[in-house]
Amino acid sequence: MSAKLIDGKKIAAEIRGLVAVRVKELLDTHGCQPGLAVIIIGEDPASQVYVRNKRSACEETGIRSVAYDLPATTTQDELLALIENLNNNDDIDGILVQTPVPDAIDIETIIESIRADKDVDGFHPYNIGRLAVRVPALRSCTPYGVMKLLESTGEKFYGREALVVGASNHVGRPMALELLLAGCTISVCHRFTRNLEEWVKRSDIVVVAAGKQGLVKGEWIKPGATVIDIGIHRTESGKLVGDVDFSTAQQRAAWITPVPGGVGPMTVAMLLQNTVDAALIRRGFKDSGKRTVDLSRA
Ligand code: GUN
Repeated sequence: MSAKLIDGKKIAAEIRGLVAVRVKELLDTHGCQPGLAVIIIGEDPASQVYVRNKRSACEETGIRSVAYDLPATTTQDELLALIENLNNNDDIDGILVQTPVPDAIDIETIIESIRADKDVDGFHPYNIGRLAVRVPALRSCTPYGVMKLLESTGEKFYGREALVVGASNHVGRPMALELLLAGCTISVCHRFTRNLEEWVKRSDIVVVAAGKQGLVKGEWIKPGATVIDIGIHRTESGKLVGDVDFSTAQQRAAWITPVPGGVGPMTVAMLLQNTVDAALIRRGFKDSGKRTVDLSRA
């Protein structure tokens, strides 16, 4: 068997096209342009590339991107003051703090300080909680993008055994909640898991976000499984590879994401979609679903 490739680049481009249409509609009908504040602290080269991509994707789809490039010496209080300002700025619909942040800053405190209805990363405990209770509001971009990739295969979710490898707050955990919401039977493996191979071998859907190059061996993949690789690493020869041993996994899987060109472009596409949704919801043009508390105070 040779797996079919899930083309994240193409699917992300379609989503970006739809975002551009919705942004234009919002502007034409209500005279408002969604605004996204992107904050980067310090000079981590990889983060600078990611942020540049996010900002140029905003411009391309008509979203106003507001840049805050802060020095590595920025204190937690200074960052909290900036976020408070942006929380109260009616022209700002989304606030994103690029991670990782310098050690002096506690990222979870920062995320909780962002208004939940401007948390376009979908990292705020309120938004994670909404996903957990099956009433998603703003959804974490990478897991949300993975769900779009899985939907594109046309394969069913109900009753399938889905494994998430990696239990981080921003990817692994919301990924498991997304798969549970879709009707999968879920398992999560992490650094203390004793026999990763056994878990991978029984799983119909394997989503890997471990941050370890080649962790999942191709021979472990169940024939006919769907494999989603969230990892990205540069080898010594300069090639980009993921957490899954792609060439052998491809021979057993039915569907697989390439690295690059799989999950990566989806994260940015879902960020843009979240920003338009956040603008529509906060401005009262779209309902975020059933809710029991005032989002602005969450
Ligand atoms: N660092 C790596 N990926 C992301 C992301 O999706 N959002 C933020 N805020 N930081 C990141």
